[in-house]
Amino acid sequence: MYICLCNGLTDRDVKSAVASGANRCANVYELLGAAPQCAKCTVHIRDIIRESADLPATQIIRK
Ligand code: FES
Repeated sequence: MYICLCNGLTDRDVKSAVASGANRCANVYELLGAAPQCAKCTVHIRDIIRESADLPATQIIRK
């Protein structure tokens, strides 16, 4: 499923970046060679980061 339409990133791409150590949206974009454009995808990226770390939403760094 596409998470980021601007960069053509899928949930698998984002999960792969998170598994490689990305713990912020900026890290995810960087590891995937992408850059935020409209930033509508950040909420979904944060969800994937939170799910992978099993953290409450308030502990995700919003950069
Ligand atoms: S949907 Fe990801 S930057 Fe626009």
